[in-house]
Amino acid sequence: MSTEQKIETRCVPADAAALAEAGRILRDHGLVAFPTETVYGLGADATSGEAVAKIYAAKERPEFNPLIAHCSDQEHAELYGLFDDNARRLAKTFWPGPLTLVVPARENCAVSDLTRAGLSSVALRVPAHPVAQALLREAGVPVAAPSANRSGRVSPTHAGHVMGDLDGRIDLVIDGGASDVGVESTIVSCIDGKVVMLRPGGIAREEIERVIGRKLEAHDGAAIHAPGMLASHYAPNAKMRLDVQTIEKDEAILDFGGRFADVQQASFDLSPSGDLKEAAANLFAFLRALDATGADVIAVAPIPHEGLGEAIRDRLARAAAPR
Ligand code: TXA
Ligand code: MG
Repeated sequence: MSTEQKIETRCVPADAAALAEAGRILRDHGLVAFPTETVYGLGADATSGEAVAKIYAAKERPEFNPLIAHCSDQEHAELYGLFDDNARRLAKTFWPGPLTLVVPARENCAVSDLTRAGLSSVALRVPAHPVAQALLREAGVPVAAPSANRSGRVSPTHAGHVMGDLDGRIDLVIDGGASDVGVESTIVSCIDGKVVMLRPGGIAREEIERVIGRKLEAHDGAAIHAPGMLASHYAPNAKMRLDVQTIEKDEAILDFGGRFADVQQASFDLSPSGDLKEAAANLFAFLRALDATGADVIAVAPIPHEGLGEAIRDRLARAAAPR
């Protein structure tokens, strides 16, 4: 995007006037960043290819990945997708909340081809954050929203992160405080009777399996192309070293459970008490803060595999991937 096209981006608190304005901007095919309980989203009218194209321009996303269409409730979501028994059960249990369901799109699905990247399926989510809920009701349309960061950067969990990445590129940022889950939604596809986890996230695998009453099927990678699963996606500038047992000189530390509390180097502890929920909520903000120290390497303490640990480990592995 050239400098002449720079637009004024306002960052405003989430009051009634801001929400009404956000609704107007979305209906006029503009871009609004808004808080969800997982991360901040960059929203556009999902039914308009023209509006959704602006998301790619603002993020400088290199390719058209399918986006999640956010809906105000399950009834709204079922206007666009075909829910089988598993999808219904998962929606009833976890919506509103950090779950995205990929289901077959209905015939004449109003969610645009660009939002769906031409696929015959559609990704739907009903977020729980009260500001996201109010915004979706104001907009009256499904809202396509990837995370509100520039392509290749860490996902934003504060309005300030969004301004840092997208100031001058979007119309409005609604500040609703910190996102308290802190990692993106879990993505589960329910197609042809199969239930497959496409991305670990804010709802743990074990919780999904409890609801469907069996183990999730393994994601074979080839069958469903989910480009958000690109290896390097959540990328700080620093190199990352994972599951470290010892700290090298000059490394910044991303700690967990106070393991390296005695080491005298720049350090953030995701959760001194070893709570994975707290760790997920702090993850992206701490990665940004450690990156800002200018350290060449961020050493990361071991994170347990269970529960939300799966999503945290997934995001750390991507941040550490070569690029
Ligand atoms: O928590 C979240 O999910 C956040 C907030 C803003 O809602 N959104 C988010 O969006 O993480 P994004 O664009 O970063 O990730 C969407 C993921 C991508 O990995 C994409 O490939 C996948 O959803 N996806 C979307 N539609 C799909 C489809 N029809 N089939 C398979 N994967 C799909
Ligand atoms: Mg993203």
